[in-house]
Amino acid sequence: MSKLFELDSRLKLCADFVRRGTALADIGTDHAYLPVWLALNGRIKSALACDIRPMPLQSGADNIEKYGCSDIVKTRLSDGLDEIAENEADDIVLAGMGGELIVNIISRTEWLKTPDKHLIMQPMTKAFVLREYLCGNGFNILEEKACTYGGKNYSVMLAVYDGETRDYPESFYYSGKLLGGDPYAKPYIKQIIKKLNYKAEGKRHCGEDNIKEDEIIEELKNKFGVDTDDNG
Ligand SMILES: C[S@@+](CC[C@H](N)C(=O)[O-])C[C@H]1O[C@@H](n2cnc3c(N)ncnc32)[C@H](O)[C@@H]1O
Repeated sequence: MSKLFELDSRLKLCADFVRRGTALADIGTDHAYLPVWLALNGRIKSALACDIRPMPLQSGADNIEKYGCSDIVKTRLSDGLDEIAENEADDIVLAGMGGELIVNIISRTEWLKTPDKHLIMQPMTKAFVLREYLCGNGFNILEEKACTYGGKNYSVMLAVYDGETRDYPESFYYSGKLLGGDPYAKPYIKQIIKKLNYKAEGKRHCGEDNIKEDEIIEELKNKFGVDTDDNG
């Protein structure tokens, strides 16, 4: 068996949200580092390392063998959760994919609609689209934490279904449940504000109304104490 490795900051946050002793499904697993690390650390009962493409799945299978945890971690070729049965996974990780793809995968998996299932998500893009979908479709975002990885800032969120539809102010969909005390929240929010400023500028250029973006930016600055001259 090979020596234990460290997870990158994104996957470490995902790992920290996974319940001890759970049955895990890692969707879009690629190298399978997350389920392998969790298995080697004795944190999970079982894991399905799933990917839509055979090549990444093979790289996952190689790592499962290399680290000697094939008794706990199995691979599965699957588009989203299409090939996973309800009784095979309780904690579902969707990391390293775009927010819109994560929405697509969740929205077509009916069996996720129970409080027993924990969704752990780390969108690479369009996190606001994912948050808006979750809140509008009965999923409650319980917690979020931010991290910096490869010079960019990301958020990892934990959500469960409770059937309640939530209508938050627009700025919530850009900051989610991140807290001011999270040391990585401020850089994340600065990155969001930079993108919103860029969007507002584009609208201004086309003679379009950008009041919405300006309002969101103001709310985010106030909530997270981001300086006006410090937009990154
Ligand atoms: C950038 S990798 C992320 C790997 C790992 N989860 C991480 O965060 O480091 C994205 C992976 O998602 C897989 N993927 C893309 N669409 C998918 C889908 N609909 N269902 C399952 N896997 C998918 C890709 O094949 C790729 O291996």
